[in-house]
Amino acid sequence: MKLLNEILGTKYPIIQGGMANIATGEFAAACSNAGALGLIGAGGMNADTLRQNIRRCKELTDKPFGVNIMLMHPQADEFAKIVVEEGVQVVTTGAGNPGKYVPMWKAAGIKVIPVVAAAVLAKHLEPLGIDAVIAEGTESGGHVGEMTTMALVPQVVDAVKVPVIAAGGIADGRQLAAALALGACGVQVGTCLLVSEECPIHENYKAALLKAKDSDTIVTGRIGGSPVRVLKNRMSREYVRQEKAGVDKMELEKYTLGSLRRAVFEGDTATGSLMAGQVAGMLHEVRPVADILADLWDGGRQRIAALSDEC
Ligand SMILES: Cc1cc2nc3c(=O)[nH]c(=O)nc-3n(C[C@H](O)[C@H](O)[C@H](O)COP(=O)(O)O)c2cc1C
Repeated sequence: MKLLNEILGTKYPIIQGGMANIATGEFAAACSNAGALGLIGAGGMNADTLRQNIRRCKELTDKPFGVNIMLMHPQADEFAKIVVEEGVQVVTTGAGNPGKYVPMWKAAGIKVIPVVAAAVLAKHLEPLGIDAVIAEGTESGGHVGEMTTMALVPQVVDAVKVPVIAAGGIADGRQLAAALALGACGVQVGTCLLVSEECPIHENYKAALLKAKDSDTIVTGRIGGSPVRVLKNRMSREYVRQEKAGVDKMELEKYTLGSLRRAVFEGDTATGSLMAGQVAGMLHEVRPVADILADLWDGGRQRIAALSDEC
């Protein structure tokens, strides 16, 4: 099996997950320079800011990088053209079927890697000519599905022939080794990079992540059909309480409207949406991206070597 770094031309088989309002061109460039595939998160951007961020990323790195496009974004059609015009090498997509864009992207030599939360979607997308698929478990931060990484990854591996990248619940070498053992060719991480020096989130958000314990995340919107994993705080606890009480979607939106931006830019840890995965409890210090990635990969290799001795 080819590892993801051989497919993408990166140092490590690791993708920095696209994160709306967080993964700027500068952050993606920092991650690419440190050996991962950096991704610009187009969610939260418009056509102009996406183009600016791509150009900024190109100024800051000569390594491969990509763009994450959430397909329900109102400007997804424009984003799809911009990545072609700007010569982006990799596109990851979330929240839907990228089928109508695939021919245009493939003609431009772009590698297309959708995110899926179930094997059935991976199977459905494979005939479109996608290059790989990211199987993202419900442990992850942000928008989530139902299945755990442990159950999902091997079932996606069995369902498709294209390489599978594991995401959700990976923050150290043990988890990276486990992902490879499940049949993944590499991993995508988000939460563990939020506490990097280069990550442009507010310091209060980072402090909340460092304080979090393993059980300190909660999923808002499970009942309403748009589940999002965030740290427990006043907003998310109240949201879930109201949701369970049957309050309607429109009413619930007043909690989440602009809440990620409040967390990221204003450091509002009481009413902001502090998106984070279940690995938040494993984060103990703010470090350079290069150290986080090196530890992930070296730790993974050590774990694999130790297992082959032990077993
Ligand atoms: C703060 C935050 C924002 C995210 N935003 C997006 C997004 O805009 N698009 C997307 O496809 N995934 C998004 N994700 C998911 C990540 O790309 C990645 O798949 C996930 O974080 C991996 O799981 P982990 O958090 O356990 O590392 C987000 C994750 C976090 C933590």
